[in-house]
Amino acid sequence: MKGTKSIMALLLWLGLSLLVSVHSSDVKNCHHGCRCEVESFGLFDSFSLTRVYCRGLGPGTTMPIPIPLDTAHLDLSSNAMGPLTDTMLAGPGYTTLVSLDLSNNLLTKVTSNVLSKLRYLETLDLSHNNLQSLSPRCFSGLPLAEVDLSHNSFQEFDMDVFATKVNGEPVSVDLSHNKLVSVSTTSRGRELHIQSLNLSANRLLSVPRLAGLPLRYLNLDDNPITQINDGAFALLKDLSYLSISGLHELQKIEPYSFKGLQSLQVLDLSNNPELKTLSPAVFSGLDALQELILSGSGVASLPNNILTHLPSIKSITLGQNINCWRTQKQEQFHRQLGQVQRSDVLNCNTEGIAL
Ligand SMILES: *[C@@H]1O[C@H](CO)[C@@H](O)[C@H](O)[C@H]1NC(C)=O
Repeated sequence: MKGTKSIMALLLWLGLSLLVSVHSSDVKNCHHGCRCEVESFGLFDSFSLTRVYCRGLGPGTTMPIPIPLDTAHLDLSSNAMGPLTDTMLAGPGYTTLVSLDLSNNLLTKVTSNVLSKLRYLETLDLSHNNLQSLSPRCFSGLPLAEVDLSHNSFQEFDMDVFATKVNGEPVSVDLSHNKLVSVSTTSRGRELHIQSLNLSANRLLSVPRLAGLPLRYLNLDDNPITQINDGAFALLKDLSYLSISGLHELQKIEPYSFKGLQSLQVLDLSNNPELKTLSPAVFSGLDALQELILSGSGVASLPNNILTHLPSIKSITLGQNINCWRTQKQEQFHRQLGQVQRSDVLNCNTEGIAL
C-alpha cells in the first residue's frame, strides 16, 4: 500500500512538473530594467505566458517599454509615469495583456484612449495614485474583471464608468481609502455587472444608493455614517456579504433598514461603539442571514426569540467575547406523534444569555 502511494505521488509530481514550469532566464526581448518570467503549461510546454516586472525603472525611461509579444502580466508600478499619454501603453505585446499594474505612478487622471488598446485586459491596478477623475469612456471595450482604485483621491464616483466595458462578466471594484463623499449610478444598474464593491475608509455620510447593482459583496467600513435608514439597501437582492464595521459615529439603524436583502448571509456590524440597541424590526427581511457579527459594538442584548426574526441564523457574536451558536434541543418524547421533538436554540458561551 505504502509503495503504491509513493509511486502515485511521484507520478503526480512528474505530471505536474510536466504541466507547469517557470524559467526566468533567457527571455527574448526582455527590457534590461525588467525581470521576465515565462510560465509554461501543458505537455511539452505547448502553452506559455510571460510575466514582466518593470518596477521602479527610474527617470528617463521611455514608454512604452518594449515587452515580449506573449506578455500576459505587466507590472509598471512605481515609475512616476503620470500624466499618461495615449501612446505609453500601446505597442507590440500590449494588446494581449491580461493584467496590468500601474500602481504608485503619480497619476491624476485616466483619459479616454490611454487603455483603449488593451482589449484583453481583465485585471487593472491603479491603486496608490492621485486619481480624482476617470474619463467616462476610459474602460470602453475592455473585459475587466478586477479594478483596484484604492488609495486615490476620488471625492465623487460614478459607477457608470463600468457600463462601457465589454461582455457581461462580473467585475470587482476596490475604491477603499479614497475621499468619497458620493457614489452614484443611474437606473441602468443591472448593466454594470459590479459584483463586489469596496467603499471602506472613505467620507460617506450615508449609505449610497446602489439600487439595482448585482452586488454580492459590499464593504462600507470606516465611514462617518451616523444613521442607516429604512430601505437603505433596497433592491440589492443578490448581496450575500455586507460589512458595516468600525463606524465610530453610527448611532442608529432604523427598522427595515435591511429590507430587501433576501440573499444576505453575513452581516458584520462589529466595532460600532455608539450603536447601542437594535429593535426586532431591524432584522426584518434577513431570511437567509447565517452570521451576525456584533462584537465590539455597543449592543449588549438582542430581542428575545431572535430565531423567529432570523430563521437561518447559525452564529452570533456579541460584546467582547460572547459567541452563540445554533443548536438543536431534544425535547421529551411526544406520545401522540411517536417521535422525539426537537427545537432549535442559540447557545452562548456565557451564562445568563438567552436569545
Ligand atoms: C476592502 O478594503 C479594506 C481596506 O483597504 C480591506 O481591508 C478589505 O480586505 C477589502 N475587502 C476586500 C474583499 O478586498
